[in-house]
Amino acid sequence: MTTEHIGLGVIGCGTIAELMYLPQTNRRIHGCQVDLVAVSDSVESKAAGAAQRFSARRYYVDYRDLLADPEVDAVVIATNIASHAELALAAARAGKHMLVQKPLAETLDEADEIIAEAERMGVKLQVEPAHMLNPFCKRAREVIASGALGEVCLVQGKASHGGAEDRPWLFQRAGGGSVMLDLAVHALTWLVSLAGPARRVTAFSRTSVPTRKINGESLEVDIEDNVTLLLDFEAGALGTVVANYVTVADLTPNVSVYGTEGTMHINAPQAPFMLFSRQASYLGQRGWLAPTAEGGHQDRLLSPPRELGSREVPPHSSMGHFIECLVEDQDPVPGGAVARHVLEIMVRASEVESSGQAQRLDTSFGPL
Ligand SMILES: NC(=O)c1ccc[n+]([C@@H]2O[C@H](COP(=O)([O-])OP(=O)(O)OC[C@H]3O[C@@H](n4cnc5c(N)ncnc54)[C@H](O)[C@@H]3O)[C@@H](O)[C@H]2O)c1
Repeated sequence: MTTEHIGLGVIGCGTIAELMYLPQTNRRIHGCQVDLVAVSDSVESKAAGAAQRFSARRYYVDYRDLLADPEVDAVVIATNIASHAELALAAARAGKHMLVQKPLAETLDEADEIIAEAERMGVKLQVEPAHMLNPFCKRAREVIASGALGEVCLVQGKASHGGAEDRPWLFQRAGGGSVMLDLAVHALTWLVSLAGPARRVTAFSRTSVPTRKINGESLEVDIEDNVTLLLDFEAGALGTVVANYVTVADLTPNVSVYGTEGTMHINAPQAPFMLFSRQASYLGQRGWLAPTAEGGHQDRLLSPPRELGSREVPPHSSMGHFIECLVEDQDPVPGGAVARHVLEIMVRASEVESSGQAQRLDTSFGPL
C-alpha cells in the first residue's frame, strides 16, 4: 500500500456492499487510487456477479483466500452480523486494514480480541455506522458545545422500519438476526456521539410480529423485533432508544436532544434538523430554526443532502473517511473504543430480561 494506491477487498457481496461500498471503488479517493482487487462471497454466484459488475480483478468464495491475497491492503467486511467477529479477527491477523459493518462483534470478548489484534498488527479499524461523520451530527455537536441548549438533560434516538422482506437471517437468531445489533446500534451511536458514554442501561423487548412473509414465504420469527432501552449517561443526561421492525411509517425525528435552554430534532440523513433555543444570542434569533450542516440556518425546512453521484465519494462517507485515514495515517472515527462501548450497551441491555435489573457499563471512550 502507498498513499497513492490502495488495493481493496470487499467480503460479502450483498445488499449493503452493492449500495455503499462496491460503487465507490476503482476511483481516486482523497488523492489515492482505490482499486477493487477482489471480492468474496460464500455464495459463488454473488461473488462472481459482483466481480463482473464492479470490475474486481478476481473473486473468491472463501474469504481466507482474499485475506491471503498480497495485492489486498485493506478490506471492507459487509457480511451477515454473525460472521463479523471471525472475519475481523482474521483480517487483523492477516495485517489488513478494515472497515467493518456494524456491529463489530456479538460479544465483548470478541470485540476485545479484534481491537487488541488490530493494535498489535498496526492495522486501522473503522466500524460502521459512520453517523459521527454525518455533517448534521457534527453540527449538532457544535450546537451542544455552544451552550445553545443549556445543560443536556434528555436524548432520544430511534432506528426503526417495518422489517426487510428479502433477508430471512434478520429474523432468526441462528443467522445472527437481532434488532438490537442491526438497528439499535444506529440510535445508540448517535446518542453517544451527542451525549458521550453511558454508565447504565435497562431495556424491554418483545417479538411483536411472530410470523412474517419473507421472500413470499411464511417465516417464524425467533428474535425480538421490538426493543426499548433506557440509558443513564456519564455526563448527566438520561436517554431512550427505540429500535424495531414494526414501524411501517413515521414522521417523528430520529434523534432529539432536550436541554435546559432548548431542543433539537434531527431526522438524519435527511432534513429537517430543527432547533429551538431560548438564548436569543444563538444565531441572532429566538425560536425554532433549521440549521444547515455548513453553518448558519434557514427559516424553512432543509432540503435533503445531495444524492451521492456514481463517481463521487463525499468526504463524510464512511469509505471516504476510511481511505483518508489510511492515506493520512489517522485513527478512524468511530474506531474500536466507541464500537465496543455501543456493543456493551447492546449486550448488557439484552441481559436485562434475564436479570431483571438495570446493568452497569464498564466501558467508556475518550473525547471524540
Ligand atoms: N441492508 C441494509 O439496509 C443495511 C444497512 C446498514 C447496514 N447493514 C449491515 O450490513 C451487513 C450486511 O447486511 P446486508 O443487508 O448486506 O446482508 P445480505 O444478506 O444482503 O448480504 C450479506 C452477504 O454476505 C455473504 N456472506 C455471509 N457470510 C460470509 C462469509 N463468511 N464470507 C463471505 N461472504 C459471506 C452472504 O452470502 C451475503 O451475500 C450487516 O452487518 C447489516 O447489519 C445492512
